Amino acid sequence: MSNASAEKEPIIFLDDISVTFKTRTGSLLHPNLVHAVNHVTIKLMPGETIGIVGESGCGKSTTANVMCGLQSPTSGKVYFKGQDVTKRTADLRKQMGRVVSVVFQDPATALNPRMIVHDQLLDPLLVHKVGSPKEQEKRINELIGLVGLPKSALRALPGQLSGGQRQRVAIARAMSLNPSAIIADEPTSALDVSVRAQILNLLTDLKKDLGLSMMFISHDIQTVRYISDKIVVMNHGQIMEEGPAKQVFENPQDPYTKMLLGAAPSLLHPKLGQ
Ligand SMILES: Nc1ncnc2c1ncn2[C@@H]1O[C@H](COP(=O)(O)OP(=O)(O)O)[C@@H](O)[C@H]1O
Ligand SMILES: [Mg+2]
Repeated sequence: MSNASAEKEPIIFLDDISVTFKTRTGSLLHPNLVHAVNHVTIKLMPGETIGIVGESGCGKSTTANVMCGLQSPTSGKVYFKGQDVTKRTADLRKQMGRVVSVVFQDPATALNPRMIVHDQLLDPLLVHKVGSPKEQEKRINELIGLVGLPKSALRALPGQLSGGQRQRVAIARAMSLNPSAIIADEPTSALDVSVRAQILNLLTDLKKDLGLSMMFISHDIQTVRYISDKIVVMNHGQIMEEGPAKQVFENPQDPYTKMLLGAAPSLLHPKLGQ
């Protein structure tokens, strides 16, 4: 990395974040606590992709939700481009939506089933009052092309598309306001194995072509391998190991990372797993 980029401000900086949930078990005076995220510090630099990996329940989604403002941390601070966004007002939330957007595991939940694709892509532009009607139409046409779908898809309802196509629409929507960073939380896990690699390639192309920063979250360490510059390995809400992707894969230090690497074969080579 050049000196210039080393001096830049992180797009997202999680500073010693912890999130504790009260569970329904336990009593009113003595609720049981789940320490979903424990003292996690992550800096996402401009143009960088960080892969967060760990088994189900280790706190990946809670971390992602803190990053995009869906979850308040119990302690610690969140900064977007140097601005403290830990305590969010409605106005700040709206501003945050222009810096960081999210792609979730299941595109069905991210899209309105009653709205044609065109209107789903128009919606963020209207909410943020971006461009004239003519410019908005132009942007919608750009977006659908950017994610490799034909213009005819603009007239479709989400239910008329395949799972992979729906995830492309969700990605187009996430891109609509030209965010600096995308948080992708298990974006391929709900898809058929045959289209997972296509969605991975699309996200890789987008980050390369547009210089996007990305947090790519997966329970499968092999999925994040080729897309990530850095890897963060989480277990029980804590960071077990982090470093450049090459180093973590070729010379893992933590026994937990070694275990993850030794576990399932890559989903990109599904035949090996059968
Ligand atoms: N809203 C919530 N209330 C209570 N517990 C939660 C809530 N969300 C997550 N958890 C718990 O926090 C832990 C981390 O969950 P999560 O961040 O979803 O993990 P992951 O995405 O890695 O599977 C789990 O034990 C989960 O059950
Ligand atoms: Mg999750």
